[in-house]
Amino acid sequence: MSAVYFAFSRNVLAFRNSGALVMVRYAQTAAALAPEPRIKKFQVYRWDPDTPGDKPRMQTYEIDLNACGPMVLDALIKIKNEIDPTLTFRRSCREGICGSCAMNINGGNTLACLNKIDPNTNKTTKIYPLPHMYVVKDLVPDMSNFYAQYKSIEPYLKKKDETREGKKQYFQSVEDRQKLDGLYECILCACCSTSCPSYWWNGDKYLGPAVLMQAYRWMIDSRDEFTEERLAKLQDPFSLYRCHTIMNCTKTCPKGLNPGKAIAEIKKMMATYKEKKAAVS
Ligand code: SF4
Ligand code: SF4
Ligand code: FES
Repeated sequence: MSAVYFAFSRNVLAFRNSGALVMVRYAQTAAALAPEPRIKKFQVYRWDPDTPGDKPRMQTYEIDLNACGPMVLDALIKIKNEIDPTLTFRRSCREGICGSCAMNINGGNTLACLNKIDPNTNKTTKIYPLPHMYVVKDLVPDMSNFYAQYKSIEPYLKKKDETREGKKQYFQSVEDRQKLDGLYECILCACCSTSCPSYWWNGDKYLGPAVLMQAYRWMIDSRDEFTEERLAKLQDPFSLYRCHTIMNCTKTCPKGLNPGKAIAEIKKMMATYKEKKAAVS
């Protein structure tokens, strides 16, 4: 071996060794800088109707919060993707628009995608489906009754003269349009209705805050011509009058809306409507 070659290969070795040294140092520094894992427990309601004899139970999952997004929905998605693909829940938009991830988190109804994970790792986060609803599976409630009730209030513009329909726009003043603010934003997540004790006990007959707020939204729409008929439909003892102004609905709404107030407004309109009807008859 020539002296030149020997010197060259020794330099390469030295370079390689220094490279390896740098790598080791880098790994050591990275390990020293890596944050301690922040393991958080999530207890999730589980029930699978397809497994004969399965009983509802709580299942605990552990997640390192350093490797998880900030919202409860992030944790659920992580559990489903990495730990347990059988966990079932609804979600779509993950930004508080679709309303599908509504569930009961730590005792309150809310949207999992808007609910921040409590960073306290000593506290377990408990997740249940929306209360007092039939459960389809795990965190998925059966929304059939809720949607049927929504359909029953005819949540669309109604005109007496249908011949004009689709031919020209129905204008609305800026002021009339503003009356719909705080109502049209409802995403029908059902958090409010399923936090309402009256709805728990009479959900088959009482329409509940979400649906009533939408009924009100159409009653006060200046373009709609069926206000009286809409009021008449709510005259029985249950549809509207099971609301006892407990206001759980307004407290829980994850969109900051006020269905309790909307119901109070319908009751006022109803009083005027009844007086008017009595005067005519
Ligand atoms: S009022 Fe709020 S809580 Fe109720 S359905 Fe609408 S968005 Fe959900
Ligand atoms: S205000 Fe009425 S609708 Fe809202 S929670 Fe109370 S009883 Fe239910
Ligand atoms: S995923 Fe759409 S509201 Fe949460």
